[in-house]
Amino acid sequence: MVRFFIPTAVLALVSLAHAECGAGSPDATVTGSDGSFTATVGSSSVYSGSDYLTAIQTAIDSISSDQRVAVIASGSIGAGTITIDNGKIFEGCGTIDASLRSGHGAIESTDTTDVQIPYLLMTGSPYFGLRFSGTTNLVLGEITMNLSGGIGIRFDRDAADNFNVKMGTISVTGASSHAVETWNIDGLEIGSVIARDVGECGLLIQNTINAQVGLVDADNAGSGTGYATLRFANQNGRLSDGSYETNIFIDKVVSRGGGRGIFCVSESGGAQITTIDLANNENNAILIENCYNVSILGGTVSGGGEVRISARDEFENTSDISVTLQVDDNSVRESPCGENITWNISGSATLDVC
Ligand SMILES: *[C@@H]1O[C@H](CO)[C@@H](O)[C@H](O)[C@H]1NC(C)=O
Ligand SMILES: *[C@@H]1O[C@H](CO)[C@@H](O)[C@H](O)[C@H]1NC(C)=O
Ligand SMILES: *[C@@H]1O[C@H](CO)[C@@H](O)[C@H](O)[C@H]1NC(C)=O
Ligand SMILES: *[C@@H]1O[C@H](CO)[C@@H](O)[C@H](O)[C@H]1NC(C)=O
Ligand SMILES: *[C@@H]1O[C@H](CO)[C@@H](O)[C@H](O)[C@H]1NC(C)=O
Repeated sequence: MVRFFIPTAVLALVSLAHAECGAGSPDATVTGSDGSFTATVGSSSVYSGSDYLTAIQTAIDSISSDQRVAVIASGSIGAGTITIDNGKIFEGCGTIDASLRSGHGAIESTDTTDVQIPYLLMTGSPYFGLRFSGTTNLVLGEITMNLSGGIGIRFDRDAADNFNVKMGTISVTGASSHAVETWNIDGLEIGSVIARDVGECGLLIQNTINAQVGLVDADNAGSGTGYATLRFANQNGRLSDGSYETNIFIDKVVSRGGGRGIFCVSESGGAQITTIDLANNENNAILIENCYNVSILGGTVSGGGEVRISARDEFENTSDISVTLQVDDNSVRESPCGENITWNISGSATLDVC
């Protein structure tokens, strides 16, 4: 298998290519405010008028591959979609407000190569803030979404695979669903996902292989649901030959409150989590159910719902799980028994394991 360890420094370099949003000489800009926007390419105006979405899309459509557009103006695209095609670099420096367009992203890039969004600040309630599929070499940098609904970033389920996706720091507040939901990625590198007060998961990764994630940090993700700060589902980490050799590496998970802390389900696995810091999750601090070859190497769980290994009949029994943790004011339970489960639990937790 292909293992890749691209140091975080490389990611930092990618996002530092332009030290701040709109710096240097963007090939196109969108400027103006409140009902008066101008899209400029070089020294020519390509759009001037009241429509923020048209100004942005005209700027994108007027540059070529490898060129950069900086949206300096803030405004609302309404229930519209900005489409980024091959090789273009999109910087959202102003605040882009979006409202719901059912089944669509406020910004979409599908079946493209080498698209970059080094900066983005989005508000509003889109269906998906960013929506992708069929991408190769997509790079997202500093993405901040202060939402009042919707999903932050979504890679589609029923669409073409993605290869080599990089994300820097993704901060999502107020999504009614997930902060970041991936499907169908081979080669995923994320610096951090920071989720606050989101309705479902912080990071939900599905049918994704060869992933390296620095930090997943959520406060109040998925309260009242079975969703989690970090959830692996739908054969996440299962390699093309059906094996679960470790290929999903997570450096750190921090979770406070919300539904679950860490949830692995539906034939996922091949994962190693270096350290965790979970407290007061409502449901299960950790639930590992029908997953294979998952290791949690260390960290703490304080209070909250029980740490549990489980299995449902519809899939193969849970197997090859190793958990080293300090667990306080909580309980650790294995029911039904899994296969080749290694527990190394310290702290005040009660243990009911096989
Ligand atoms: C986004 O939300 C954060 C946290 O609530 C806040 O600190 C920041 O000022 C907000 N930014 C914008 C542009 O709304
Ligand atoms: C788990 O992954 C390791 C590599 O990290 C591999 O050596 C081992 O064979 C895997 N075990 C199973 C049961 O897949
Ligand atoms: C038991 O599980 C560990 C991972 O926790 C794995 O590395 C090892 O290969 C497994 N042993 C067997 C006999 O499958
Ligand atoms: C899983 O394997 C264990 C150990 O062999 C066994 O006790 C348990 O009943 C099995 N559970 C399921 C759901 O097959
Ligand atoms: C169990 O965890 C402790 C840390 O709490 C660690 O020092 C020890 O090496 C672990 N034991 C095994 C067998 O992994």
